[in-house]
Amino acid sequence: MFIKAIDSLDEGLNVFWSDNSSSCYPWFWLRDHSESEEDLHPDTKQRQIDSFSKSVNNNISKVWVDEASESVYVKWTDQSQSCLSFSLLKSMENPNLPQSNAIKLAKIWNTPSEINMFPEMSFEELMGDEGIKTWLTHIQRIGFVIVNGAPATSDATEALMERMAYVRNSIFGGFSVWDNKLENPDDTAFTSLSIEPHTDGTYVHDAPGLQTLHCLKRDSIGGENQLIDGLAIAEKMRNEYSDAFNILCNVNIPGRYIKPDTYLEAHRPLFRVNDNGDVIQVSFNNHDRAPFRLENEQMANFYDAYKIFHNLANDRSRQFEFMLEPGKVLTFDNWRLLHARSSLTGYRQLCGGYHNREDFESKLRAI
Ligand SMILES: [Fe+2]
Repeated sequence: MFIKAIDSLDEGLNVFWSDNSSSCYPWFWLRDHSESEEDLHPDTKQRQIDSFSKSVNNNISKVWVDEASESVYVKWTDQSQSCLSFSLLKSMENPNLPQSNAIKLAKIWNTPSEINMFPEMSFEELMGDEGIKTWLTHIQRIGFVIVNGAPATSDATEALMERMAYVRNSIFGGFSVWDNKLENPDDTAFTSLSIEPHTDGTYVHDAPGLQTLHCLKRDSIGGENQLIDGLAIAEKMRNEYSDAFNILCNVNIPGRYIKPDTYLEAHRPLFRVNDNGDVIQVSFNNHDRAPFRLENEQMANFYDAYKIFHNLANDRSRQFEFMLEPGKVLTFDNWRLLHARSSLTGYRQLCGGYHNREDFESKLRAI
């Protein structure tokens, strides 16, 4: 992409692109977004220019395009100079509120049969040079990935998780090993009971982005895991139950986690949407929902909407069922998929932990 022509107007610089598009960038915006070494630290990419302490004189002395460096230069009458790359200008061509792209390439699935190219790979591939890209892309596309052939040890599982980023700390600790025989379990996850479809961390402001689980030892019957694409339910509700969808986008539902000396609580709508109306986070845990009350009519409408979501999430035809076994490491997007578990008898030992959402997004941008 190159610039065909520029035109200095009172309100800003009009740039005409080779694809025949054009955009007028305000003068103050150009100065504030300068990428010159003085204005933007070349290593940290942190803004150095002080755009606000003194009122700057935005009179222009000269504006020119330098094809060699693919940049636009502005010389101001106060002798300072701004420099902006074609790529920055092009990426900012259309005014748009900041967006995250982590969910943009999602291929939603209503039933397991709609999962194209099953998201699995070998441990060896993941730990190799290009493996992380495949791993991330599977999660971005389908919402989960299964790594086969992993050594059934906590060390190997932790190394697998750290291939992406550091493991997040939470009320349950960081990377953890647990079994279903704890004397005083502080969550149903650490028991043999069944658990309904849910997302983790509805009681924290920043729910875990990814969750990884690996069963290290299994001498049990039952305990299958189910995964459900919450994004697919959101789109179905948007299309078929639009009033209910809107309610679930707007009602802040409290989640809580209580144990001695701890009382976590956070509030979020079941569907969090961005400025474009795209669903960027699904939060649902009926077990952890805290008491709350709306006006009676609103409450009744909320219950109706919540019930629709609940019943769709519990529809077995929407659930991908998977048995955690030694050697198979499951990682899923906790902002998109719901997970559930059947009850089990016998013994099993698991390990795993969480990753932050921003670290998942960071790696997606960086690869
Ligand atoms: Fe969970």
